Amino acid sequence: MGENIFITGACGYIGGSIIASFAHVKDGLLAKATIHAAVRSEEQAQSLTKNNVVAAKIDLNNPYALAGYMIRNDVSIIVHTATSIDGDIAHNLIEALKRRREANGKKACFIHNSGLSAFDESTGWPFGHVRDTDPVYFLEKQCTDTYVVREVDVLVAEQTESAGLTGLIVLPSSLYGRGGGTWNQTTLLLPALIRTAIANRQVFKFARDKEILLTHISDLTTFYIQIVEAVLQKRALPAGTSGYYFTVSHSARWWEILDRLAIAMHNRGLVDEPTAKTWPDDAFAAEALDLPVNLTLTMWDSSPKVSCLNKDLIGWKPVWDRERLLESLDEEIENYLELARSKDSP
Ligand SMILES: NC(=O)c1ccc[n+]([C@@H]2O[C@H](COP(=O)([O-])OP(=O)(O)OC[C@H]3O[C@@H](n4cnc5c(N)ncnc54)[C@H](OP(=O)(O)O)[C@@H]3O)[C@@H](O)[C@H]2O)c1
Repeated sequence: MGENIFITGACGYIGGSIIASFAHVKDGLLAKATIHAAVRSEEQAQSLTKNNVVAAKIDLNNPYALAGYMIRNDVSIIVHTATSIDGDIAHNLIEALKRRREANGKKACFIHNSGLSAFDESTGWPFGHVRDTDPVYFLEKQCTDTYVVREVDVLVAEQTESAGLTGLIVLPSSLYGRGGGTWNQTTLLLPALIRTAIANRQVFKFARDKEILLTHISDLTTFYIQIVEAVLQKRALPAGTSGYYFTVSHSARWWEILDRLAIAMHNRGLVDEPTAKTWPDDAFAAEALDLPVNLTLTMWDSSPKVSCLNKDLIGWKPVWDRERLLESLDEEIENYLELARSKDSP
């Protein structure tokens, strides 16, 4: 019999895409596993039936319900994608897995989906360039008070280690591409720029051009397939306070993306000019993008300097690169329009 894997955020962009990609795995131990998908509503549970998963309508804030679920279903891996900023939920899940480990003595692994914004100076990261093989935990611990994502990473590293669990923290860069899940298939970055450009009939760019780090959602789901398979095979991986895994497909410059986007949108008649104009100022950008100024800057102005080395331990090789992204911008627009149409239809 296969292992039981519990995935939170199962109807989100990342969690839903992971579940869909797991459903296509035909070989290895992952193909034999039973996937349990944590959802918040009956409609979400229904949407997941085609992925051949066990939908679990469960409150992640209820530690007793979680512990009972993990023990009853003998869950050995949790993949937590629901939130990287809620320490209470991460704590509840780790405690629940610890209870299951105490119940039958079998090993268990907690995989936490975080984000590379933790290493950007716009979020108060003071240490500049960082590799995932550096003592990241000790560096993050020195600046948890300025960014909640770092605080939760540190909590996960410490609590998994003291609970005797294998704790792995996956930190993707900003993502793009259409998600493969049954519910939310879209993320913020490019869709928000496309939506704002349609509303203003103009593609905008920030005054500062930046090299940004990007990961295509299909590269990230491949990463999750490989890391979960490695855990199922009981391969020794750096874990706990050493268990940081950065994921980046490639970098690209904002202006080249937005200039190409402007041409593609102009070709479709969605904007008046085939060139991107600079935002008048950050406040105007934030209002148009419908986000607070600080979050706007973190999302579009962040440019963490990182090296991803631990990916080699699981053999991950991203297949998306800068050229492929630039060539796929018309597809991003098409996806945006199609998903917007399906939201509008009854
Ligand atoms: N997207 C990116 O570019 C990116 C990059 C790096 C890191 N991240 C991080 O990865 C995480 C997931 O991102 P995402 O893009 O997949 O977000 P998303 O599409 O909003 O998905 C999050 C999912 O988690 C569920 N969820 C949130 N809070 C919950 C709670 N308290 N209890 C139960 N379920 C809860 C949501 O449920 P409902 O559907 O019911 O609301 C949703 O289905 C976030 O922490 C994000 O910061 C994202």
